[in-house]
Amino acid sequence: MHENAICWIDGRILPAAEACISVFDHGLLYGDGVFEGIRFYARRAFRLHEHLQRLNLSARAIGLALPYDLPTLATAVQETIVAFGENDGYLRLVVTRGAGPLGLDPRGCTRPTTFIIADRLELVSETARRKGARLVIAATRRLPADGLDPRIKSLNYLNHILARMEASHAGADEAILLNAAGRVAEGTADNVFVVRDNRLLTPPVTEGALEGVTRAVVIELAEAAGIAFEERPLAPYDLYTADECFLTGSGAELIPVAEVDGRAVAQCPGPVFEEIARRFRKLVLEEGQ
Ligand SMILES: Cc1ncc(COP(=O)(O)O)c(C=O)c1O
Repeated sequence: MHENAICWIDGRILPAAEACISVFDHGLLYGDGVFEGIRFYARRAFRLHEHLQRLNLSARAIGLALPYDLPTLATAVQETIVAFGENDGYLRLVVTRGAGPLGLDPRGCTRPTTFIIADRLELVSETARRKGARLVIAATRRLPADGLDPRIKSLNYLNHILARMEASHAGADEAILLNAAGRVAEGTADNVFVVRDNRLLTPPVTEGALEGVTRAVVIELAEAAGIAFEERPLAPYDLYTADECFLTGSGAELIPVAEVDGRAVAQCPGPVFEEIARRFRKLVLEEGQ
């Protein structure tokens, strides 16, 4: 946590270190809640509408009635950015089931807890961002959709954390999770793209990926740039033999990949990545004005 980090919590803005939730909050006890990670540039949240829509759908999917409507949350987000005082940064908007009796049953949780943290976030080192990240394919699998639908951005990240620990243990920057069938799902907090023969490819979300806001932006930018794009199931082989590979996410932004399980990616950063990254930087600043 950065010392200037601040937190909006149910209508109050505090230094983040002073913001507290109950030890009986089911978000803490059981991971019962939903969240969004949002970047802001030039003091404006990027693609806020899309993030709030996804939060709303995640909440509906778990039967959690949001305690604030979306315009109120949008205002709270803007107030949080202003209070943080830096031009660029990262927001974590969390809605938990709220405090209730011990036991899984959420019916005793009478009011959800809502908070928005504003802080800085660097998911990988500056070197990895410039020269490319090293990835490992984790032994830990993405939860199957019939266990937890990947479109729900829930507080349950333990298997992603275990995969991320595998990456750290191997001296890598990030891990790729496969689905139960052994095909590529996504990174621990990002979506994955490859380029092969000038075609941009990413797995369909039905392969077990979050429907990423940045993923959608990258697809838009590729289409605008005339880059052929296709959603296609990918195997580890496709990462090992890619012409280019990169990760996308609100936290990650766009990160080129240099290596997957010790196999060097042919071009890093490659020309397709460079073109999309250039357009992405322009877009976030334009939309941030
Ligand atoms: C598991 C997972 N996949 C993908 C992403 C990227 O999604 P977005 O671009 O909406 O941030 C995230 C972001 O938090 C994530 O947690």
